[in-house]
Amino acid sequence: MSTPKRVAIYPGSFDPLTSGHVDIIERGSRIFDSIIVAILVNVEKAPLFSESERVAIIREVFKDKPNVQVETFNGLLVDYAKRKQAHVIVRGLRAVSDFEYEFQMALMNRHLDPSLETVFMMPAEQYTYISSRLIKEVFTLGGEVTGLVPPLVEERLRDKAKGRRQKAQ
Ligand code: PNS
Repeated sequence: MSTPKRVAIYPGSFDPLTSGHVDIIERGSRIFDSIIVAILVNVEKAPLFSESERVAIIREVFKDKPNVQVETFNGLLVDYAKRKQAHVIVRGLRAVSDFEYEFQMALMNRHLDPSLETVFMMPAEQYTYISSRLIKEVFTLGGEVTGLVPPLVEERLRDKAKGRRQKAQ
């Protein structure tokens, strides 16, 4: 009898993917048989990168890691996890400030589906202050984000800025 595969889901907005996310995905890919990076399709938010752009970026960054899959999802995370036959949700914990929100989500998800376990992973220290929101803010205001995001994301951020400048002309 073969042992069932340990499938984990790493959900988030990933707008954009940061080096902290990459670090967590790599750690997760070493622990689980497969890890699905699940990008939330959030109709209320106006993202910088479209869903398809985010999928393409993350797939490209992890093209050499066959156990990392990238998908989008909408609706409840617990329903998506059930469809994917995943029993683990991976979330990154950067600092104590993340804890309250993460704790609420983990317990709500457990309430909705007691068979689903949330596993928190800490990124390497140098990534603990990075968030997608800060990356967008710093980049938009002309700050340096090299090393804080994968080179491909930096390239795509530059493309976006260029596109905006051209539109404004
Ligand atoms: O990167 P983010 O924005 O912190 O990720 C939040 C995410 C996508 C994990 C969370 O908003 C989510 O799971 N949304 C799906 C809807 C849902 O299941 N909500 C109840 C969760 S307690």
